[in-house]
Parts: sequence; structure tokens; C-alpha cells
Amino acid sequence: MNRTVWFLTGNPGKVREAAHHLAPLGYDVKQLEVPNGTIVEPQVDTLEEVAQSKIEQALAHVPGGTETEDLLLVEDAGLFIDALQGFPGVYSSYALNTIGCTGVLRLLNHLESEDTVQCAQLRSAQFQAVAALWHKGELMFGHGVCQGWIALNATEGEGFGFDPIFTPYDLDEFDEPLKPGNYGPISTHGKTFGAISLEEKQKFSHRQKALNDLLHQMPSA
Ligand code: IMP
Repeated sequence: MNRTVWFLTGNPGKVREAAHHLAPLGYDVKQLEVPNGTIVEPQVDTLEEVAQSKIEQALAHVPGGTETEDLLLVEDAGLFIDALQGFPGVYSSYALNTIGCTGVLRLLNHLESEDTVQCAQLRSAQFQAVAALWHKGELMFGHGVCQGWIALNATEGEGFGFDPIFTPYDLDEFDEPLKPGNYGPISTHGKTFGAISLEEKQKFSHRQKALNDLLHQMPSA
């Protein structure tokens, strides 16, 4: 019989994505929906701590609670800008809702150059994601990083959050990021995540990598 994985998210797209990966391992992924405002974003320093706090809060909403045989999945991500010592990091949602992309660009105003390679170094940043899985009191973490830089201007287009101002570094044939100025087979050709399709973005996805990292540690159901 399939094991159930409850996924705490408001986004059905993320559930479909997780199901795509977990169904072959014998897991049945279901969205755990909780009323708005039920889960509080904690003020902690790392994505792991955020995810752990969300797991603890969400367990009260899983059928069977802490006694359940089911699994609980939580995912958390953020944008970490090197020149700002990792800000907005765990406060990415808050920063997006307050200063937004324009505010972040303003914070980096002093880090500009005519030279694109130099810009990409001065304004380096990463999207980081953590996927946390709870089962019978045990927690497993998967990690994913997408390395890139903060563009000089925001792009209009698809995408959400900080997509309009984030340009990933090119990836080599092993999916590893290259240094700025080097061209790899996987590239947005200098475009931000906001200017490319979701399908293209998936190739760089920190979220996807975190889930994959978790999958490699998971036993078959
Ligand atoms: P969440 O944990 O996936 O909800 O991400 C928290 C916040 O990080 C979002 O509100 C965005 O501001 C930012 N963020 C995380 N991942 C991405 C991404 O792939 N593109 C753009 N912004 C992101």
C-alpha cells in the first residue's frame, strides 16, 4: 500500500511537482492545506530552522497528528545576496512584500560596473531551498542552491518573487555553476528568471535540487 506524504504548501503546482518525483517511489503526495495565518514564520537564522518550525506547527493539522504513520513535507526558500551578508535570506517573503525588487536593486546601487562580468561578481547571490521531511519524529533535510547575480534592472515577464532581478550563472554539463564570464550548455544568455519560461527556469531550480537531494536519502515506501 502506498504511503501518504502530506505537503504543507498553498501551491498545487508544487504538489504536482513533488508527486511526479515521489509516486515512482511508492508515495502518495497530498496537499496539506491550513487556514491562512495558522502557520507563523519564525524569526530564526536558517532555512532549516524555518522548515523545522513549520513542521512542528503543521503536525497539529495532519490527520493522526504526531502518532501518524504518514510523512510530512515542508519546503522553504530564499534569496541570499553576498554583498548584503545574505540578506534577505530567511526574510525573503517579508522583504518582497515590503521593499520589493526595486528596494533590493536600490540597496545594490553602489555595486555597478560597465563590465558585465564584474557586475556578476559584485552582485553575486544565490537562491537557496531546503526540503524537510518528517516521519515518526525523525527529520531529513534536502538542500538546493542556484548561484547567480542580481541584475541592474528588473525585467517584466513571467515568474514570481525575485525572479525579475535574478540572473543565474551558466551551468556546465554536470549542472554545476560556472564562474561569471564563462559560457555553459545550460544558459539563460544573461536573462533573468523573470524573462524566461518556467520550463527553462526548472533547469536551474534550487527547489528541484532540494527535492532531489531529499529523494536520494528516502527509502522506498
Ligand atoms: P518560499 O519559501 O518558497 O515561499 O520562498 C520564500 C520567498 O523567497 C518568496 O516569497 C520569494 O520572495 C523568494 N523566492 C524563493 N524562491 C524563489 C524563486 O524561485 N524565484 C523568486 N523568488 C523566490
